[in-house]
Amino acid sequence: MAEKENGIAGLTGAAEYGTAEDLDVQAVRRDFPLLAYTDLAYLDSSATSQKPACVLDKEREFYEQYNANPFRGLYDISEKSTEEYEAARSTVAEFIHAQDPAEIIFTRNTTESLNLLGYSLTSVLVRPGDQILISMEEHHSNMLPWRLAAKRIGATIAYVTPDENGEITAEAVRAALTPRTRIAAITQMSNVFGKLNDMKAIAAVCHENGTVIVADGAQSVPHVPVDVQDLDVDFLAFSGHKMLGPMAIGVLYGKTEYLEKMPPFLSGGEMIDIVTADRIVFTELPHRFEAGTVNAPGAIALAEAIRYLQKLGFARTQKREHALTARAIEGMKKIPGVRILGSQRAEDHHGIIAFTVDGVHPHDISEIFSADRIAVRAGHHCAQPLHLWLKVPSSTRASLMFYNTEEEVDRFLETLGSVRKRMGYGE
Ligand code: ALA
Repeated sequence: MAEKENGIAGLTGAAEYGTAEDLDVQAVRRDFPLLAYTDLAYLDSSATSQKPACVLDKEREFYEQYNANPFRGLYDISEKSTEEYEAARSTVAEFIHAQDPAEIIFTRNTTESLNLLGYSLTSVLVRPGDQILISMEEHHSNMLPWRLAAKRIGATIAYVTPDENGEITAEAVRAALTPRTRIAAITQMSNVFGKLNDMKAIAAVCHENGTVIVADGAQSVPHVPVDVQDLDVDFLAFSGHKMLGPMAIGVLYGKTEYLEKMPPFLSGGEMIDIVTADRIVFTELPHRFEAGTVNAPGAIALAEAIRYLQKLGFARTQKREHALTARAIEGMKKIPGVRILGSQRAEDHHGIIAFTVDGVHPHDISEIFSADRIAVRAGHHCAQPLHLWLKVPSSTRASLMFYNTEEEVDRFLETLGSVRKRMGYGE
């Protein structure tokens, strides 16, 4: 099980960076140049994670040693670039347990992956009068592509709402499905609540109804083991930059049976077999969906990030993230005027804690944190419909990753405890 959890056999449980059970956070932090460079307590990893030196080195290695366009050159550095790019695809496939590397499409990010589906998948599956089901807790990137597609096609959008713990349950999805629901697009972990949805159960109820299930893994893939075959999701989208990789490299996993039927999203170089003045034959998967020069250094560095995560092991990273989250939530509950969005149980939060402070605007809260050298995010976190549904215009969000320290959490709590006073309230 432990081997499966981490994708590649042999790397699990390496007793580097502490003991087999616990990470030595100071040893881990030495790998992250930015953490030494700044005195900020960085509590915004759900927006983007920090990057270890091995990832930065890998990207530099590409440009220094084999910077050439993959697939296009018949000389050694282009061949090396192709080889490394395709090896990165296999690493990603193994990491999420895809059946075949051809089911992995490299994109810029989760947003681009979901826009690809909003265009290509809907064009083969959705007809006027059909329905697309999304949840109220979706990030705009798993909402707007579907809404725009529905408008274009003349289909309808339905929403499933979270329970009191911020969970989209399989029962709620089942109740919302209709015979005309062609696609359900649901996040595996909300970027506001931090609660994991039971994607396996959701996929099962969707499949019973003949509905294709698209999972947004932007927040889950960096933090929990994800096995697409076990979950039986039809598509999974995620971003490299939230899981220690570079910005502008993302992934779309799709089952071959669907990808084969879908038209390309972007067209241009490297995605065709034959083009004549009046004929186009698209090339095979996955290249059909990767038009133009690809982000090969990004993909190669993402594979390095995956190897680094595997070396640490999800068992250890999750243990740390849960302990830090519990410390933060216990402390927050003792501060008057602070309200945590979603579940009040620490174990439901997976590092993400969005909150409000009575009478204080999140932008003011975030500026107070910034003055105390703590980075948090303020606003609606690209989940405005969720905030409107919660009747909270905006919130402040702290998001923790395994490289955060207990001392940073304590600094966060101390500042949070001072916010109302600093804004002129009695306490
Ligand atoms: N989607 C990212 C977040 O939730 C940017 O912060």
